[in-house]
Amino acid sequence: MSQPGIKVFAPASIGNVGIGFDLMGMALEAPGDEIVARFADEPGIHIARITGAGGKLPTDPEKNTAGKAALAVLRHLGLAEKRGIELELYKKMPFGSGLGSSAASAVAGAMAVNELLKRPLEKKALLRFALEGEAIASGSKHADNVAPSLLGGIVLVRDHESPDVIRLPVPPGLFVAVVYPHITIRTEDARALLKPAVPLALHTQQAGNLAAFVAALYRGDLDLLSRCLDDVIIEPQRAPLIPGFYDVKKAALAAGALGCSISGSGPSVFALCANSLIAEEAGKGMQSVFAKAGIESDLFLSRINMKGAFKF
Ligand code: HSE
Repeated sequence: MSQPGIKVFAPASIGNVGIGFDLMGMALEAPGDEIVARFADEPGIHIARITGAGGKLPTDPEKNTAGKAALAVLRHLGLAEKRGIELELYKKMPFGSGLGSSAASAVAGAMAVNELLKRPLEKKALLRFALEGEAIASGSKHADNVAPSLLGGIVLVRDHESPDVIRLPVPPGLFVAVVYPHITIRTEDARALLKPAVPLALHTQQAGNLAAFVAALYRGDLDLLSRCLDDVIIEPQRAPLIPGFYDVKKAALAAGALGCSISGSGPSVFALCANSLIAEEAGKGMQSVFAKAGIESDLFLSRINMKGAFKF
């Protein structure tokens, strides 16, 4: 009979939050990924099962985001040759959606090993191992999805290598509507199209927006927050990947959203709202624009998830 094991959850997240390319992210309540972990006889990490991925994810732990993060924790603890751990990955969110799917799997992988081993590491210490998993999927180490998925809240990433992350205050009531149109954008592709240089005037504008956004969160000033949510660098370059993006954005703002932009590398689009009613209206408005263009979509309505990943 197999051992009971433990089960963890890691949530979806919105990378960039528009103005903080690779620097800021926020966690959603749902969707998210789940992992069941139990001890196995053979040393190392073994991925016994993946559901919800349509057979598209590798079970080789070195090539799988969850497996790689789990291995990184086990290696760090010096246990890769001594302990065997079997993982079952339940993907409960779309990948290639801009909702931080690979980050959620990586966070869940690192959490699962730590929890099964009765927490030899602090939660925050898992960040660098989850980042190793995330790097497999996106081709680069950026913590704007991994950090909020692990720690919850809205997180600013000062440095990805250390990593040095700061959890920011979240004004009460803040709600997000995220619409996932059923088209796929690979993060690697959406990164490759970005111009490597930024005109100085745009850099200045964006830095002002990001800095003032942080100030708005500390003050709980939603008017200021709304004025800041204007990505002048990344959004214009990626918008052509999402059919009807500017009409979708217009619909969200018309419904009263504080701001609207691309979630991570897309194709999902998020609208940050002062309350759940506005979020619902903004979400419906965005969906109807996609529907008119013949694109099916899913709507996720969520508070900012303050808890991040957890063990059930
Ligand atoms: N910050 C990343 C990007 C998020 O925009 O490419 C997607 O992983």
